[in-house]
Amino acid sequence: MRKPHLDMNIFKARRQKVGKDLVGSAIVVAANPEAVRNFDVHHPYRQDSNFYYLTGFEEPESAFVFRPGMHPETVLFVRAKNPERETWDGFRYGPEGAKENFLVDQTYPIEEFEQRAAELLLEVDQVYYSQYRDPAFDRRMQETLLLVQAKARRAGRGILPVLDAYPLLGEFRLIKDEHEVAMMRRSAEIAAEAHNELIEHIAPGVSERTLFGRFTYDIMARGASGQSYQGIFASGPNATTLHYVFNDQELRAGEVILIDAGAEYNYYASDITRCHPVSGKFTSRQQEIYDQLLGVQKKVISLMKPGTDFRKLQQVTIDALVDLALEQRLLKGSRDEIIEKGLYQKYYPHGVSHFLGLDVHDAGKVDRSKDQGRPLEEGMVLTVEPGFYIPQQDPDAPEELRGLGLRIEDDILITSEEPEVLSQLAKK
Ligand code: GLY
Ligand code: MN
Ligand code: MN
Repeated sequence: MRKPHLDMNIFKARRQKVGKDLVGSAIVVAANPEAVRNFDVHHPYRQDSNFYYLTGFEEPESAFVFRPGMHPETVLFVRAKNPERETWDGFRYGPEGAKENFLVDQTYPIEEFEQRAAELLLEVDQVYYSQYRDPAFDRRMQETLLLVQAKARRAGRGILPVLDAYPLLGEFRLIKDEHEVAMMRRSAEIAAEAHNELIEHIAPGVSERTLFGRFTYDIMARGASGQSYQGIFASGPNATTLHYVFNDQELRAGEVILIDAGAEYNYYASDITRCHPVSGKFTSRQQEIYDQLLGVQKKVISLMKPGTDFRKLQQVTIDALVDLALEQRLLKGSRDEIIEKGLYQKYYPHGVSHFLGLDVHDAGKVDRSKDQGRPLEEGMVLTVEPGFYIPQQDPDAPEELRGLGLRIEDDILITSEEPEVLSQLAKK
């Protein structure tokens, strides 16, 4: 029998934290559906992050009902054992194995979900469940809620209110616990080492694809399950496409390659970007802009302390990059007008930071509108990724800078003191 390789008390303790103020409510989370690639071949399976966060259970076709403070409190629905399917697809825990290994109160086959979940939801006032993510499971939930209504004779009171589980769980996921910090440190360390391994393989004539493959090898050889998102291996003008996906061009002398790639380690993502000159040395103009960008990144990192408003990171970045564009004579005119009219977006069109965790663009709400931001807190992990991109057809740029795309991205843990740069091993 396979055994979970993590201590399930991690997940039990987490549920206690999540459930503390939720008495009278239930949370229902479902496993990710499998994605068919063609006929009977599937894309690699990755568990839903919220489901994993609460259960640690990695199989598809599963669901979890959590009723804080009630008995039973935790009920996991899983695929039944099936020797024939297991011959083809591999081991399944089945209800008994799941009960033995995952520290939950009860387990049942997933086929019994509607009937049993309806009984469990009879006793709560509201249910947190994320609709519109998986239409097939939404239908099962709908069936369940109709059963609750019938059993409870709720006709007059209507259907049990459903609230979105995503923002609720997002608030917890935003502040990393001790286990998560350890996973994220290792994830960033693995990705940083793999970035460093690539440096000696960067040369004219090498394919972006070769670097993609080497990076994948280097993170997986260190224990990652794979990349945390499809890496961006973008040489020359490809680097001005923010989420370049082709990764199939040859590197050319004089160009710069931008590599934005991370690891997924025990479900936790890293997200690192480095830029290297293909011929081993930047031109003096490339070096100048690179150094300025690095300066912007340092400045932003120095602000990443508890209490700093998330929006401040972006404001400081815009100010500094507008200065850079003015100094390089790419933009002209008044600084205020450039900012007011968003003219800098030609060279810097994205945000400087996002949360990082189980997902590369992780859960956690920030209202970017004028009057509501979000102060940084100890235990948050965020990227910091200023970038500067000069379109290949930019008539305002000198020839030698056209098609240059630079981004420098690190992963930062907010602590009560100095920010911890989780990805600091990656050479700049
Ligand atoms: N790798 C995607 C991003 O940096 O947000
Ligand atoms: Mn990022
Ligand atoms: Mn990135």
